[in-house]
Amino acid sequence: MNNKVDLSINLGNLQLKNPVMPASGTFDIRDTILNKEQLNSLGAIITKSIASHKRLGNPGPRIWETEAGMMNAVGIPAEGFEYFKENILPLLEDFCVPIIVSMVGDSITDFCQLAKKLDNFEKISALEINLSCPNLNDGLYFGTNKDVLGDLIYQLKKNTGKVVMAKLSPNVTDITEMALTAEEAGADIIIIANTFLGMAIDSEKLIPRLGNKVGGISGPGIRPIIVRMIWEASQRVKIPIVGVGGITSTRDALEMFLAGASAVQVGSANFSNPYVMLNIIEGIAGYLNKKKYKSVKDIVGLIK
Ligand SMILES: Cc1cc2nc3c(=O)[nH]c(=O)nc-3n(C[C@H](O)[C@H](O)[C@H](O)COP(=O)(O)O)c2cc1C
Repeated sequence: MNNKVDLSINLGNLQLKNPVMPASGTFDIRDTILNKEQLNSLGAIITKSIASHKRLGNPGPRIWETEAGMMNAVGIPAEGFEYFKENILPLLEDFCVPIIVSMVGDSITDFCQLAKKLDNFEKISALEINLSCPNLNDGLYFGTNKDVLGDLIYQLKKNTGKVVMAKLSPNVTDITEMALTAEEAGADIIIIANTFLGMAIDSEKLIPRLGNKVGGISGPGIRPIIVRMIWEASQRVKIPIVGVGGITSTRDALEMFLAGASAVQVGSANFSNPYVMLNIIEGIAGYLNKKKYKSVKDIVGLIK
């Protein structure tokens, strides 16, 4: 039996009753088997990335399973703002946990216009910025170009009063440089990280496994790299870090807290175990009790 431990965490102005939430695009309130009470016991709810206008995704196949996770090349198909307003936002009104809307855009102006529209909805607590998308102006990914990343966050902050969470790309040489750039530009929180770019080839058919040829690797195989990145970034930035990549169990989530993350997101693991986030919340409480910590805050960044 667990004694009462404090699982609450503050991410800047965002207050969560526990530090576990879904990763964007891997969890949909419309088709999860979790009931409303279970959904309301998560730290937050995050939408799949939405765009100002409807975006089509990549040609199939879009998913390929790897030995230690999966690859996806969905290409960020996204609902436009009007669809989101009419069909998704009303469903979110029902929840009593912070609602985080993930955003994707083609240009800084596009991102800013969407942020401005979303700013009108009180129900939305924070905007998560998906930086793993190409900027139409130069074809480069927002998350791999330091100057564009900084400019995007800086401009966005001028267009929204919501908490801004910058979801970094791991496909960079030095994650600390990107984390510092996001912090200096005004991001309230950084998220480490989105998927790693990879490729798989069918040697019989002599074609790439994914319709888009390359895709994002997620799942347990990337976890040690993410833990290292969180640890490195946590030595440099003061704003809170949210860790995501390969979490399948309480033990995996704990590694991220110890490395310096204040909260975690769970992605691919939801596909094989829809209860995984609930299990992890309970597991963290059990661990804190066993180790006689009063609060999850006590273990954030313990490893120096
Ligand atoms: C099928 C699929 C769809 C995804 N869609 C999005 C998305 O819309 N926006 C986003 O920021 N990340 C998206 N991601 C990335 C995840 O949110 C997460 O960063 C990544 O999968 C690493 O976490 P994991 O190893 O726990 O899955 C997607 C991942 C997968 C596997």
